Amino acid sequence: MTDQVERLRVELDDRAYEILVGPRLLESAGREIQPLLRRRQVVIVSDETVARDWLPQLRDSLSEAGIAHHTVLLPPGEETKDLDHFGRLAEEILGFGIERGTMLVALGGGVVGDVTGFAAATLLRGIDFVQIPTTLLAQVDSSVGGKTGINTRIGKNLIGAFYQPRLVLADTAALTTLPHRELLAGYAEIAKYGLIRDAVFFSWLEAEGRAVCDLAPAPLRRAVMTSCAMKADIVAADEREDGDRALLNFGHTFGHALETETGFSSQLLHGEAVGLGMVLAFDFAARMGLATPEEAGRVRRHLDEMGLPTRLSAIGLAGIPADRLLAHMAKDKKVRDGRITLILPRRIGEAFVMKDAPRDELRDFLATAA
Ligand SMILES: NC(=O)c1ccc[n+]([C@@H]2O[C@H](COP(=O)([O-])OP(=O)(O)OC[C@H]3O[C@@H](n4cnc5c(N)ncnc54)[C@H](O)[C@@H]3O)[C@@H](O)[C@H]2O)c1
Repeated sequence: MTDQVERLRVELDDRAYEILVGPRLLESAGREIQPLLRRRQVVIVSDETVARDWLPQLRDSLSEAGIAHHTVLLPPGEETKDLDHFGRLAEEILGFGIERGTMLVALGGGVVGDVTGFAAATLLRGIDFVQIPTTLLAQVDSSVGGKTGINTRIGKNLIGAFYQPRLVLADTAALTTLPHRELLAGYAEIAKYGLIRDAVFFSWLEAEGRAVCDLAPAPLRRAVMTSCAMKADIVAADEREDGDRALLNFGHTFGHALETETGFSSQLLHGEAVGLGMVLAFDFAARMGLATPEEAGRVRRHLDEMGLPTRLSAIGLAGIPADRLLAHMAKDKKVRDGRITLILPRRIGEAFVMKDAPRDELRDFLATAA
């Protein structure tokens, strides 16, 4: 089994940590976590859906390694990332009599990972935590890099901390129970890595994307590893997003406007919004003469073939007024002094940050986007 597991390191000096990618890592989680413990006590945080399928394996594995554990289960879904749920979670964890040496273990998707990471960053002024991501999106994106946080009524992820995990265990077998639509949403983030930095990887995805989403072990492992390695590299160079880390937001400003319009509901998943946002970014770049229409067409074709929505009409937003979307984009976290920042492609495999994107061009573009 171990030969199917690959390891990579996120180089962050004394906060460096390993990411393990492979099948059945939950079975060896106790063994992997044990050397990192300062106290043989962990608190598992998961959601009810994930727990049904995967919690017993994690518990067994911790018990076999002689690690005492408590569990807190949250309702599944984005609503769990609010202040009320966070307050209850924090008090429940504290109620177990935790100490500074206690470790939190996040078993779930990005929601569980973000909330648990924020709890780890703040409880007792900071305790250790491990990420066991169970969605494709969490395995290739949210579990790596140390962004933790919760939502407020004013906006998403507005309370949070940069706080790195001690270990990430990406068990690819956990994806077997993930609904296909959620899997595809995670795939959009995988494609993003190719589009911003690695044209060869994108070409490989054009050939192997279907195998990845069919969970064929070798292609899946390669896709997750390549994505994690790229994110780890970018984060190691720019942990707090002062520079290149911003490129990881490719597709997100357009995507965020679409998510705002659809109320962050199941009408449009985050990864779907990012996928469509990347298509729009390529189309806009082609219109501005920054990328070629052929490449923009290639990106749309691939995401379309994979089954992701690539047109506004596919998500019920055909004909939406351009000013409405523009207003949403102007509320993006990357806006500075009212100026919209966009991550745009020069070509497949190369992206750059455009500060102060031209609003009139953007409005004209959005008015014709279908
Ligand atoms: N921290 C970061 O850097 C970062 C990056 C991207 C996204 N995010 C955050 O991640 C969140 C989205 O994450 P997500 O897409 O993983 O959503 P999620 O955590 O809500 O999971 C999606 C759904 O899949 C279910 N699920 C999870 N694993 C499963 C499995 N193995 N089998 C069956 N069902 C399973 C969950 O219960 C949930 O209903 C958002 O809150 C977003 O803000 C954070």
